[in-house]
Amino acid sequence: MTDDLGALLASAPTLPRTPSVRSLLAGTGGYLPERVLTNDELARTLDTSDAWIVERTGIRQRHIAGPHETACSMGAAAARAALGAAGAAPADIDAVIVATSTPDQAFPAVAARIQHALGIQRGFAFDLSAACSGFIYALAVADAFIRLRQARHALVIGTEVYSRILDWQDRATCVLFGDGAGAVLLSAGPGTGASTDRGLLSTHLHADGALGDILYVDGAVGRRDRPGTLMMNGREVFRHAVARMAETVDEALADNGLTHADVDWLVPHQANLRIIDAMGRRLHLPPERVVVTIDRHANTSAASIPLALAEALAGQRIRPGQLVVMEALGGGLTWGSALLRI
Ligand code: UT7
Repeated sequence: MTDDLGALLASAPTLPRTPSVRSLLAGTGGYLPERVLTNDELARTLDTSDAWIVERTGIRQRHIAGPHETACSMGAAAARAALGAAGAAPADIDAVIVATSTPDQAFPAVAARIQHALGIQRGFAFDLSAACSGFIYALAVADAFIRLRQARHALVIGTEVYSRILDWQDRATCVLFGDGAGAVLLSAGPGTGASTDRGLLSTHLHADGALGDILYVDGAVGRRDRPGTLMMNGREVFRHAVARMAETVDEALADNGLTHADVDWLVPHQANLRIIDAMGRRLHLPPERVVVTIDRHANTSAASIPLALAEALAGQRIRPGQLVVMEALGGGLTWGSALLRI
């Protein structure tokens, strides 16, 4: 590295942040399959009970995709709803980014299939894989494209059919997950760099591949012998989830010169109500300021945050100008947070 470049890089962290473009939340949408599977139904064939599942996880039911429903079909439905909520047309969209661990095919990407299903004929489309953190990762990537002026309107979608990668005999995992899709439309808007701006204030991503074996799928589309089943050391993941998500929320607030007192809403990944409650208490938020869908949706992985956001915005619980914290942790391990002013 030359001395000049070294000096330039050393000064980079102290450069003022003055983004003139922000990614604004223009619309949200969700899709859930019709079929609802209750805890009591599971308890008929599995050594479990509604009482255990509710007490240890907060889950009461989950939605399960029908035979013809896939990550593509559910993601397209959620994206249509987001476009409708934003009053946007398919022709406006120049980026489709999908977070999924359960794509219909290795390729084309689910995003490309959804682009076509929506009648979008320009721009770019791709998938990314970061398990339950996928939506936060996809938001971060879309935000970067918007700030770099490579996209003006980006659809960010989380869509999952975990029912197809579960061992339905394993009570430790199969009771935890559900299927569904959520989508947001991010649109370029003006910003000043201040934390009072509307839109995404910042995103914070992390990964630690050394922890890959505590939550993984033991196969892939490319393996004929093993399409893949989800495996998890629940206690270990739980431990990391509480610690890592707390850190990344504090990091997000500090990066914007904000404190816990500035947060209006927590829209967390929905993995376990005990984790969600712990995060809410840490932020000193009353329960009514924490968006909870896990009781009805279970853990829909990359779809859980956009589904929760869509529900809270449709019900007009979250209002313009309010500050929303989102956080997630998933296989990888991957984790991250995002701060969004509505
Ligand atoms: O989205 C990705 C991130 N995922 C997460 O954040 C999940 C994090 N982990 C968790 O949410 C929790 O660890 C679980 C919900 C998975 C498990 O709850 P836990 O309180 O940590 O239970 P445990 O794994 O320590 O198991 C306690 C007992 C065990 O029995 P013994 O060994 O004490 O006799 C399990 O065999 O509960 C048993 N058990 C069940 N009992 C009835 C495990 N699953 C079930 C079940 N029904 N479905």
